[in-house]
Amino acid sequence: MSTPSPIPAAAQAATAEHCGRDLVLTEVTDRRGSAVWKAAGPEGTAALKVGRGDGVEVTAREAAALAALEVDYFVGGGVTHGAAWLLTDWLEGPSTWEVFAPVRAGGADRQHALAAAADLCSAVAVLHAAGWVHADLQPSHGIHTPDGVKLIDLAWAWRPGWDQGNNFNGGMTHLLSPELAAAIITGDKPVVVTPAADVYALAGTLWACATGTWPLDYQAAAIDPQTCTPHELRQHIATGRVPVPANLPWPELQEVLLPVLLDDPANRPTAGELGKALEALSAEDR
Ligand SMILES: Nc1ncnc2c1ncn2[C@@H]1O[C@H](COP(=O)(O)OP(=O)(O)OP(=O)(O)O)[C@@H](O)[C@H]1O
Ligand SMILES: [Mg+2]
Repeated sequence: MSTPSPIPAAAQAATAEHCGRDLVLTEVTDRRGSAVWKAAGPEGTAALKVGRGDGVEVTAREAAALAALEVDYFVGGGVTHGAAWLLTDWLEGPSTWEVFAPVRAGGADRQHALAAAADLCSAVAVLHAAGWVHADLQPSHGIHTPDGVKLIDLAWAWRPGWDQGNNFNGGMTHLLSPELAAAIITGDKPVVVTPAADVYALAGTLWACATGTWPLDYQAAAIDPQTCTPHELRQHIATGRVPVPANLPWPELQEVLLPVLLDDPANRPTAGELGKALEALSAEDR
């Protein structure tokens, strides 16, 4: 286990203020310049993220995005002595990946998974309606709470005119739409992330949750993703010629997702339309 990154005093004080003084901090992740702890105290639970090095700018931007979006789980954030911190309410509930675990295991309450998938689409649709894109949608970035899906890790959330920083590389590479991969390769900044690119990542996320594999059959394209650099992988993805895997453990769902993954961005549904298609599928299944 890695040594926990130190927590700045201002972040500790804000966490104690929010959760109560008798705090227990449990490390959740610590990678790529940012660490997340679950803070549990007598007055509440929270997620505390601390960014260092390259993570300072990224974490500060995430705090600014949450504040600008006025999400109800944002508590506070700041930059102090070479670290940036972000405090949010702890969101109780499974991630989309976790909701789909029984589906991947073969048994399954598929209705429940479809409803969750539609809820994820609704959350993305709300973000898009506010003029923003998430830009790093992944199976772990939607939390299914009793109050609906909350999107987390908005470090790269963007709207035209918003500071994107210099290090945006498209988020999770395996969920990059071909056109976004191509835009990143040019090196031009800011990288314009469209709602359509988010919808590709949304469909890819649901594909991964349902099948356990990314929506790209690297083997069929004679690509070894382990030995490729991320840049090389983006070059392959940008060609649009890496096929979608042929295995169809849930054909009805995958047939809804396939056109989203394969069509030109102009022909992709909106997040709201994708959600409606999943609801219709759920109604058919009954
Ligand atoms: N508000 C929250 N409520 C519940 N869990 C959270 C919250 N914020 C973060 N987490 C948990 O911490 C994990 C990491 O958070 P996040 O994705 O924001 O950080 P990250 O440093 O960008 O991690 P990664 O590099 O894995 O994307 C999440 O997958 C989730 O399990
Ligand atoms: Mg993350």
